[in-house]
Amino acid sequence: MTSIDVRPEPTDAGAFPAGFTWGAATSSYQIEGAVDVDGRGPSIWDTFSHTPGRTRDGDTGDVAVEHYTRYREDVALMAELGLAAYRFSVAWPRVMPQGRGQVEQRGLDFYRRLVDELLDKGIAPWLTLYHWDLPQALQDEGGWTARDTAARFADYTAVVVQALGDRVPHWSTLNEPWCSSLLSHQAGLHAPGERDGARAARAVHHLLLAHGLGTQVLREAAAPDVGLTLNLAPIDPAGDSPADLEVQRRVDGQMNRMWLDAVLLGRYPDDVVADLEAAGAPLPVQDGDLAVISAPLDWLGVNYYFRNRVVGGSTSGKPSPWIGGQDYEEVEPTGPATSMGWGIAPDGLRELLGRLRDEYPPVPLVITENGSAWDDVVSADGAVHDPARVDYLHSHLTAAGAALAEGVDLRGYFAWSLLDNFEWAQGYAKRFGIVHVDYATQQRTPKDSARAYADVIRRHQAAHA
Ligand code: FCB
Repeated sequence: MTSIDVRPEPTDAGAFPAGFTWGAATSSYQIEGAVDVDGRGPSIWDTFSHTPGRTRDGDTGDVAVEHYTRYREDVALMAELGLAAYRFSVAWPRVMPQGRGQVEQRGLDFYRRLVDELLDKGIAPWLTLYHWDLPQALQDEGGWTARDTAARFADYTAVVVQALGDRVPHWSTLNEPWCSSLLSHQAGLHAPGERDGARAARAVHHLLLAHGLGTQVLREAAAPDVGLTLNLAPIDPAGDSPADLEVQRRVDGQMNRMWLDAVLLGRYPDDVVADLEAAGAPLPVQDGDLAVISAPLDWLGVNYYFRNRVVGGSTSGKPSPWIGGQDYEEVEPTGPATSMGWGIAPDGLRELLGRLRDEYPPVPLVITENGSAWDDVVSADGAVHDPARVDYLHSHLTAAGAALAEGVDLRGYFAWSLLDNFEWAQGYAKRFGIVHVDYATQQRTPKDSARAYADVIRRHQAAHA
């Protein structure tokens, strides 16, 4: 691909060390489509998206961007952009349609073909085992509120690592357990769409237990590089009154510390445990669980999009993702925002990475998602001009570079997302891709941001040649 004139390029590609990993990310339900082929069982997202009123315009992942049949074309695009790595997820219900027991070889074969295609193009596969598409059959038995689901996840992990362990170097257990627990069981905005704090707290702990048990399985199978991806964010109090600071403490507890302390320190923070108990939503911890959950990681994945601003008092009537959070809420950002309404705050990324360095034991960090949604259109010249996404990319890479200069052990960056796709409850209305997809024709068009990213990667390579 020839370099085109996109925008000035503030990113100092030389600020990134030689072995830095440049990639892009997707997830199974958001891109694959083909929900009823090759023996795939239903997932909670099939059920949820087909329930009236749950997703914008009733959109579903039934077709998505047909990656299941177009994966070769998509890998060719990645190669054209010069990506060194691709982060994708495996759909549990393709591999085990009932969530347990029977293994569907055709599902495993799809991922083997995908991985072989990547390897053939010199692109490193980064495989995530769970990006939210739980088999519906397990949901019918309680889903993440049931402790048994963590054991089922370990079985599923064993099947996948046995099939692909010889060719996948980088493994991740879960993507954003905050979303699969608090957003899904407390706020009810994601599948399975429950609003029950006690069940949400159970999901929190069982997801972390699944991560720990899955990690054990991966270690036994000698998977070389094992991590976990969390969505984290700085929490800003609206003011500095004691009430505001108390809200900040509570939200930071459930957004950041509950996950980080469990995984990196082997304990839940005392104040969070107390908050949850006071809300009638205790974490169902059994002896030995936290030792399993805190087994050493090779890397921690950080998904960063925005800073959260919180205030005491709740007036909007929005469902709260915070357990016991009925008397406080998040407020809209004050500055510029993306089409998701998410504030643009590259400084938050730098701050977050610095906090991880300062407050936790050393662990290599990887930005496993970062990106922005805009109302992109294909122009008369056939291109997609997305200067705001280019700016977002450059400003966040500049922040990542600054964190590196400040001693943060950052190993890689994955743009969310490779392709426009099914943005969960927002359906197809929000476009995060660096590659545009025309949903009527499935035509892929790299946006200016894809070319800008390709330039960053090329300049980085040149700086270290
Ligand atoms: C993250 C999800 C990802 C995508 C982005 C925008 O929370 O991991 O699937 O939806 O947000």
